[in-house]
Amino acid sequence: MSKKRILSGMQTTGKLHLGNLLGALENWVSMQDEYDCYFFAADWHALASNYSQTDELKDNLLDLGVNWLSAGLDPEKSTLFIQSLIPEHAVLHVYFSMITPLPWLERVPSYKEKMEQVVNRDLHTYGFLGYPVLQAADIVLYKADYVPVGIDQLPHLELTREIVRRFHDIYKTNIFTEPEGKLGSVPKLPGADGRKMSKSYGNAIYLSDTRDEMKAKIKNIVTDPARIRKTDPGDPEKCVAYAFHEVFSDEESNKVTAEECKTAGRGCVACKKELAESVFRRIDPVLERREYWSARPKETLEALWEGTRKARAVASETLKEVESAIKIDISSFRDSLS
Ligand code: TRP
Repeated sequence: MSKKRILSGMQTTGKLHLGNLLGALENWVSMQDEYDCYFFAADWHALASNYSQTDELKDNLLDLGVNWLSAGLDPEKSTLFIQSLIPEHAVLHVYFSMITPLPWLERVPSYKEKMEQVVNRDLHTYGFLGYPVLQAADIVLYKADYVPVGIDQLPHLELTREIVRRFHDIYKTNIFTEPEGKLGSVPKLPGADGRKMSKSYGNAIYLSDTRDEMKAKIKNIVTDPARIRKTDPGDPEKCVAYAFHEVFSDEESNKVTAEECKTAGRGCVACKKELAESVFRRIDPVLERREYWSARPKETLEALWEGTRKARAVASETLKEVESAIKIDISSFRDSLS
């Protein structure tokens, strides 16, 4: 039996933090053997919410490639590619945009939320409303069976299935696969201040931080606010450093840590020193590979180009089927132009 296909994308909006590594990347890495994997840099999606700040787009793309290879994505196993180098994504987005009813887009939760919450950027654009339509095109061009994403993306998957059904219905065809979202086990890693780890909160530990910067950030992780002196007993449940321990340290040592916190047997400074050791034990291999790949931008991009070539061949086959279903058979002409 052939392998099921996985596809997922990541926006090139900037530096990756530990939450991204644990939440998304490690999950992707773990699927490489079992599935036929396609992972891509969603640089057009990054543009949708940042169209006026483009200075860093290129650096971000390279940084994303470095992080992917360092985390263990393997171009020999997975097809790694760049969205904006495959015009088929844009073309299918156009076809989908013709058949997608406006209310379907206006009711997407991520859209409504961003509209209410984001104040420092203007998102009242056609492209931003159509963001999930582009995402649908990304997914179905490769006929992906599963799409590993965070829980916030599930409505986009639902919308993708709705667009697929509508397309099949209108054009009397059955070419696409209805994709399913695939939630990974996401460790609960808060930011250093206890809120969600996020670039916009300034509480994130980045893969691009130096080891010293990471150590300093770990040292500053918030602990139980009621534990003022070392001799005060603490409550691990109210301690952000303990939440980190739960992600990075093993269960046995966490039992001891919790006990020594409650009995004031160990101070927070010592506790966070141990935490730093656990964190590095886990991410050192990634950091070492980062040193390797960040010194090799050419090789990094080449890995992505190679995958892009492979992915484009798949995408253009699907687009031919799409255009033949719509009876707008221009694919063969397009080929002869290039
Ligand atoms: N919207 C996704 C995110 O912000 C990124 C993305 C774009 C994506 N296209 C995709 C994810 C296709 C999965 C499949 O995380």
